[in-house]
Amino acid sequence: MVAPRITLARGDITEQHVDAVVNAANSSLLGGGGVDGAIHRKGGPAILEACKEVRRTRFQDGLPTGQAVATTAGELPAGWVIHTVGPVYDRVDEPARLLEACHLEALRVADELGAKTVAFPAISTGVFGYPVEEAASVAIHAVRGARTSVDEVRFVLFDDEAFDAFHRALGE
Ligand code: APR
Repeated sequence: MVAPRITLARGDITEQHVDAVVNAANSSLLGGGGVDGAIHRKGGPAILEACKEVRRTRFQDGLPTGQAVATTAGELPAGWVIHTVGPVYDRVDEPARLLEACHLEALRVADELGAKTVAFPAISTGVFGYPVEEAASVAIHAVRGARTSVDEVRFVLFDDEAFDAFHRALGE
């Protein structure tokens, strides 16, 4: 197992033809706005049904921050959605450690699935308020340090600011 190849894409994560798409969810797993809303809207009700089953069977109190769980990807071109809950930047003591955990846990779940290509959004940098420059550095370094069988990690950035931040972090 070696670190995966890291690529950047500017666009919509719901359109990515990858094995697994990572969702920046909340602990309820019942959907929301941002990338969570886009994934549920484009992926359709099968994703929410699967999330409710996860809540019933494994995480009755919700998915804790930094953990990850997979469901079907419904109508998305991907095979699975890996839901993870990023830290709310100004509400936790160690946001970087929790954001790193999101990436490592998502890759661990990807390995369990046998996924070889995984798309990540810029987790926590929207509603959860993580400064994108800091988040990009944490995300890139987490993936660089990961021991996984995933071949490609594709960061899919929805705006120029995030794309530029991840591009700079790649050069670090
Ligand atoms: N594709 C890729 N990235 C996207 C998309 C999309 N379709 N839509 C939004 N994004 C980007 C945002 O621009 C931001 O850079 O995803 C990043 C994460 O932002 P949020 O989706 O707001 O996620 P986060 O900051 O982790 O907050 C999670 O927001 O939507 C709710 O239910 C979610 O409560 C949870 C919280």
